[in-house]
Amino acid sequence: DVPELLDRFGRIARDLRVSLTEKCSLRCTYCMPAEGLPEIPRDQLLASAEIVRLVGIATGRLGVHEVRFTGGEPLMRRDLEEIVAGCAQQTPGLPIALTTNAVGLRHRARALADAGLTRVNISLDTIDREHFARLTRRDRLDSVLDGIRAAVAAGLGRVKVNAVLMPETLEGAADLLAWCLDEGVELRFIEQMPLDADQNWARSQMVPAQQLLDVLGQRFTLTETEREDPSAPAERWLVDGGPATVGIIASVTRSFCSDCDRTRLTAEGTVRSCLFSDRETDLRAALRGGATDDELAALWRGAMWNKWAGHGMDAADFAPPQRSMGAIGG
Ligand code: GTP
Ligand code: 5AD
Ligand code: SF4
Repeated sequence: DVPELLDRFGRIARDLRVSLTEKCSLRCTYCMPAEGLPEIPRDQLLASAEIVRLVGIATGRLGVHEVRFTGGEPLMRRDLEEIVAGCAQQTPGLPIALTTNAVGLRHRARALADAGLTRVNISLDTIDREHFARLTRRDRLDSVLDGIRAAVAAGLGRVKVNAVLMPETLEGAADLLAWCLDEGVELRFIEQMPLDADQNWARSQMVPAQQLLDVLGQRFTLTETEREDPSAPAERWLVDGGPATVGIIASVTRSFCSDCDRTRLTAEGTVRSCLFSDRETDLRAALRGGATDDELAALWRGAMWNKWAGHGMDAADFAPPQRSMGAIGG
């Protein structure tokens, strides 16, 4: 038995992303339908103890080095602190991260840090109130900005801000970067992927990384620097000589699938080997059917062995996956 999550292409997954819920406090157009996602019946959602057990199997038997909780919006779960604390106590020293929209984070940042959360990435596309309200279909910009400041104050690592690139984001990109530089947080732009619920994505409409670099270059001096690590999704540039950086996750125009080190667990307890793969492996049924840790680990390894080479967005027959971003968690 190979004690790692290896696939046929020789990649090893060491980074686990766990979606905790389909619920969200916002409705970003590139991610969620206006009415929200269909509710997952409670009994199909993994309970906190089940999540902690599966994370323990991943870190203890499968070589996973870091876990990240996502959603929907992970703050929608009232037991988030309990899940984080359970994982931290089970594996002391484990890096535990959160990807969140930061709505209401102000009230929970301290407790999450105390529970063992080590860092947060926060989604924020614009600091323009009207644009924010249009894009997220909710007028919650102030709550998000407060949440970012609370995360920094609680010492939640190097706080990163994620901005999905859209034509309006491009217009406000330099202002957003200036704001992040002031607040001491690291901004990363993301090429929009075909993961919106309404399937409106079109490659011809997508803002490519290069266009953003041209716009930012009019106000800032950008110098290319190295990635955080070879499998990190973001390319990075020093801003005005550094030390601050700005990043771009160019999943579409400069795909990094060949260096992918991700494995994903959905809120319903299935292993998803790739963002774009609807072929999922059910761990929940096995877990509730009395499977041992070894049996669950073997199922997980099998799921990852069959991971495909990449998202295949450039293929003529590419079809977006059934789950939208809100149901995968990025
Ligand atoms: P760091 O460890 O801080 O670099 O986190 P991260 O960038 O991996 O995670 P985050 O949740 O902040 O995701 C930022 C963007 O990167 C989101 O749009 C994700 O969907 C995208 N992303 C993360 N992992 C992958 C991946 O394996 N493939 C692709 N195509 N995109 C990914
Ligand atoms: N393409 C790229 N990134 C997306 N995100 C949400 N939807 C998309 C999409 N269609 C981002 C969010 C969040 C991260 C987990 O994924 O902004 O920061
Ligand atoms: Fe919610 Fe995040 Fe999706 Fe926006 S991107 S709708 S904040 S889950």
